Amino acid sequence: MKIAVLPGDGIGPEITAEAIKVLQALGLKFELETAPVGGAAYEAAGHPLPEATLNLAKASDAILFGAVGDWKYDQLDRPLRPEQAILGLRKALSLFANFRPAICYEQLVDASSLKPELVAGLDILIIRELTGDIYFGQPRGRRTAADGHFPGAEEAFDTMRYSRPEIERIARVAFEAARKRNKKVTSVDKANVLETFQLWKDVVAEVHRDYPDVALDHMYVDNAAMQLVKAPKAFDVIVTGNMFGDILSDEASMLTGSIGMLPSASLNDKKQGLYEPSHGSAPDIAGKGVANPLATILSAAMMLRFSLGQPEAADRIEAAVKQVLAQGLRTPDIYSAGTTKVGTVQMGDAVVNALR
Ligand code: IPM
Ligand code: MG
Repeated sequence: MKIAVLPGDGIGPEITAEAIKVLQALGLKFELETAPVGGAAYEAAGHPLPEATLNLAKASDAILFGAVGDWKYDQLDRPLRPEQAILGLRKALSLFANFRPAICYEQLVDASSLKPELVAGLDILIIRELTGDIYFGQPRGRRTAADGHFPGAEEAFDTMRYSRPEIERIARVAFEAARKRNKKVTSVDKANVLETFQLWKDVVAEVHRDYPDVALDHMYVDNAAMQLVKAPKAFDVIVTGNMFGDILSDEASMLTGSIGMLPSASLNDKKQGLYEPSHGSAPDIAGKGVANPLATILSAAMMLRFSLGQPEAADRIEAAVKQVLAQGLRTPDIYSAGTTKVGTVQMGDAVVNALR
């Protein structure tokens, strides 16, 4: 089991260190190799995704990824910005299937900005297509407008596109996942306006014929954004494109109390995967020892389950996380009156203790 560890920027190194501590407490044998990525790699090697880092990622069964990005790199040319590292890894490894579960833990019901009865018991899974859509579509760029409202003005453009096989494979991932859950898929699109998402809707409906045991409904993305805060528990699996999935998964994270709790997995068809917290690098709190490591620790659990064939170890980590929450330990992002505030390292230590 070879794991590439890419801590990255901001709070990335702090939270990955806690996840590694937890992995090492399992008593399994891992080969861990660390490499720089994002702004850290730009500083060390002049590129956010150096060839050595990419080669290590390709040669590993799984990648444990912290976070990338810092405001201080905003002025760099786009290909040198930290975000290009994660986009580059997704593309180079064909990590097309992104799993973003949003689970509201019983103890954190009051940490959500929504009424407790709306979120208590929430367990939804957002499946976001991760290698297509307007994120990667060509052409894109800046030019002088030849037509439109202001001919001759500077304009910028991106291309939204999906091919039938790209939609088919992510739809299958969603139906298979729903089979193991509550057997309901909501496909989120914008077919009322966009050709790309009319094809999306048509293809998802076609693939659904192979999964008669799973219920399918279609929802426009604007309505989905509304339903997520109105009646989130009505969802089971949501499948959507890259950009809508980016937005809806951040929205869904808030239902759970904190984005600091949300793990994610990005898989290719060989079950090789990149595992990262859904949150970013949070440069404002980096180095202060207050970041919540639980999203990364839970991402390590997903890694054991999806890429390393160790489902029992994954269950153990998830049970340990529930136990520390039941003990009342909270990092500042999930703190509420009557609980005990702890830092990043203490939270990691508590999970390790709960494992034993
Ligand atoms: C995410 C992030 C990334 C994305 C950024 C950092 C490129 O927001 O993983 O959701 O937009 O996909
Ligand atoms: Mg995002």
